[in-house]
Amino acid sequence: MPHILLKDCFLASPCQSEGFDFKNVFKLQTKYKTEHKAEYKILVKKEKVEFLLSLKQKDKAWLLKSDKTTRISPIEIIKNSINAYAKLANSKILFSNTQNLGKAKASNAYHKDINFFLNDFKNLTKNKKTFLEIGFGSGRHLLYLAKKNPKDIFIGLEIHKPSLEQVLRQIHLQDLKNIYLLDYDARIFLEFLNSNSLEKIFVHFPVPWDKKPHRRVFSKEFINQSLRVLSLNSSLELRTDSRKYFDFCLGLTTNLNKATIQIDINKELEISSKYEDRWKKQEKNIYDIKLYSQKISKELELFDEFSFECEYNFAKIINQEYKSAFVYAKYFVHFEKIYIFSKTSGLILLSFGDFSKPLSKYLIFENNKCRYFQGKPLASLANIEAHKKIKELLSA
Ligand SMILES: C[S@@+](CC[C@H](N)C(=O)[O-])C[C@H]1O[C@@H](n2cnc3c(N)ncnc32)[C@H](O)[C@@H]1O
Repeated sequence: MPHILLKDCFLASPCQSEGFDFKNVFKLQTKYKTEHKAEYKILVKKEKVEFLLSLKQKDKAWLLKSDKTTRISPIEIIKNSINAYAKLANSKILFSNTQNLGKAKASNAYHKDINFFLNDFKNLTKNKKTFLEIGFGSGRHLLYLAKKNPKDIFIGLEIHKPSLEQVLRQIHLQDLKNIYLLDYDARIFLEFLNSNSLEKIFVHFPVPWDKKPHRRVFSKEFINQSLRVLSLNSSLELRTDSRKYFDFCLGLTTNLNKATIQIDINKELEISSKYEDRWKKQEKNIYDIKLYSQKISKELELFDEFSFECEYNFAKIINQEYKSAFVYAKYFVHFEKIYIFSKTSGLILLSFGDFSKPLSKYLIFENNKCRYFQGKPLASLANIEAHKKIKELLSA
């Protein structure tokens, strides 16, 4: 993380330097201080980009660094803004790592973020069959299918970064052009796909989470979302060595109103995954459940309501005692910290949304009007509910 340690750092805002506009300096509200030290956020603008720098008292010096919630890429922009601000402060530099940062890693065309799936991906897959593998691990199954079916499109979801990197290397080495990888939690990802858009969803050897069942990929909600995104007669395919997980999923799938289910024990597939090899060596049974979609699903209604129509009373908000977190069955909202610029302007750092993929975001207040800093959250069901709660809390 780029940072500079300065002897002093007192600047009047707003000020400009080297193309950066250092707009406001927001001061952490006293009640949120963990130590008795001053802490600020500096709003930085450069052309259309905006982000925050963090300024904290550290011993008898000041630590100026990037704010992790609003960090943008390339990191050089942040580094240059820190250097520009430090130059304006005209103070002794005690330490700096903002000059010789390593080169940014080359991006890989097949490693995508969620925005790709919300936008370009939908055009790219028109008239093409699309398959999804959740938790592809070493990627043997995914790579095999993609190579064998070059006209089809494959999405791979994996939250373990080394596995993702390893499969990206294989995509490059095997010169595959039809796999898109994403580091995203499968339990939420399906919410962003169009209805009836997938041919198959593979979940092979998911972590059984016997002691923390809430972390399992399979749940009632996951099955409902899978059936929505699968096209007619397409299937969600579980393959597991865990009898407990198999029974759990069988319970979920046989509780549906209407379903076609196929069960296999020790069925051979064309390709055996790394985990499968391990379980076969141990002579464990392998169970398959295939759940077929039997209806054409309605499209999800689009939600574009992450705005705050009315003005809020920021002075009143900063005097509220928010409890540590508002926790509900499917979402939560937590007011983490408040930073003040004036009676009508400031920042609130929030965490909210889904428990498995919580979002950290600032709300920025300018003359009692408020918006999400750096754009709206993704329209997941949990974020939508959290947004409604945030509006209610701000108006209370
Ligand atoms: C036991 S491994 C199986 C890997 C591979 N399918 C195989 O058969 O060799 C389970 C994989 O699922 C990934 N995983 C676990 N929970 C996930 C989630 N919620 N979303 C996406 N991937 C997940 C893990 O990182 C892990 O790589």
